[in-house]
Amino acid sequence: MNSAPGKLILAGEHAVVYGQPALAMPIAALRASVAAELAPRGAGMTVHAPDLGLVWRLRATAPLSDLAQRTLDYLQLPEPDLRLTISSSIPIASGMGSGAAVGAALVRALAEQAGQQLSAQVISDLVYQSEKAFHGTPSGIDNTVVAYEQPILFQRQTQGEPLIAPLAVGDQWHFVVADSGIASETKAVVGDLRQRWLAAPEPYNRQFVAVGNLVRQIQVALAGNDAELFGHLLSQNHQLLQMLGVSAEKLDYLVQTALAAGAWGAKMSGAGWGGIMLALVPAERASHVQQQLQAAGAVQTWQTSLLPTYSKR
Ligand code: MEV
Repeated sequence: MNSAPGKLILAGEHAVVYGQPALAMPIAALRASVAAELAPRGAGMTVHAPDLGLVWRLRATAPLSDLAQRTLDYLQLPEPDLRLTISSSIPIASGMGSGAAVGAALVRALAEQAGQQLSAQVISDLVYQSEKAFHGTPSGIDNTVVAYEQPILFQRQTQGEPLIAPLAVGDQWHFVVADSGIASETKAVVGDLRQRWLAAPEPYNRQFVAVGNLVRQIQVALAGNDAELFGHLLSQNHQLLQMLGVSAEKLDYLVQTALAAGAWGAKMSGAGWGGIMLALVPAERASHVQQQLQAAGAVQTWQTSLLPTYSKR
């Protein structure tokens, strides 16, 4: 069984597409898996996704078929006779990286068939190439965080490889995540923002820079133990996302609900227009915030935490 986790963008979504830094972490509890079984000779490769109600042959034009073909080319394998079954607990079209996680798990499953173990960088690159072919202008943060499975700072460079740095985390931080239940395709939101940016780049560029500055401050707050500052910066990031036109009424309502319930800060997370929001909470308030979010109409909620990456003196 080969798997990859879902992800949370902590801060910096959208601006990251335009070269600003962003922070992301895996959610280990939510995973996508791909199981491979040998199929009868000549059957070729079929992909089954009972959770999604899908079955397709490798040669059908679907994003995963494209990724499977790229991976086989990389591994220098002919199409194997394989039945691949995808299962995933990551909600789809919710900003939790379901597509990238399924992709990374698929690459791992095919590599295993070839008796090879691929590095996180190779897996991430294969998923990125395929996302680029089907999803317009992804920054690469989703495939990176799910393939590396660790909290990261990610920043595209004008030329060459992106900067990928492990995130320094001082304290243990607790988050409550809530799904608005509104399905939203990243491609549509990113594409819409791009059209608006192309029509009038300047105001957007200024907001992207403001998001980048917030991300750098959040990085400092995260490495230390200033919870109120960290929360405040997350809420400010939400306001900038509202100004970028990527939030939604329900997401704003859930953010307000979390703050009223005692969260230090809250924001939408991922592409927006729907999908999830996250709240930074004191551990002892997590269950209360979670209940309030459910009462406010969240269709699913989770608690997750970010663990310290170094010991404090
Ligand atoms: C989606 O998880 C994050 C976005 O910034 C898009 C991207 O970075 O490719 C909205």
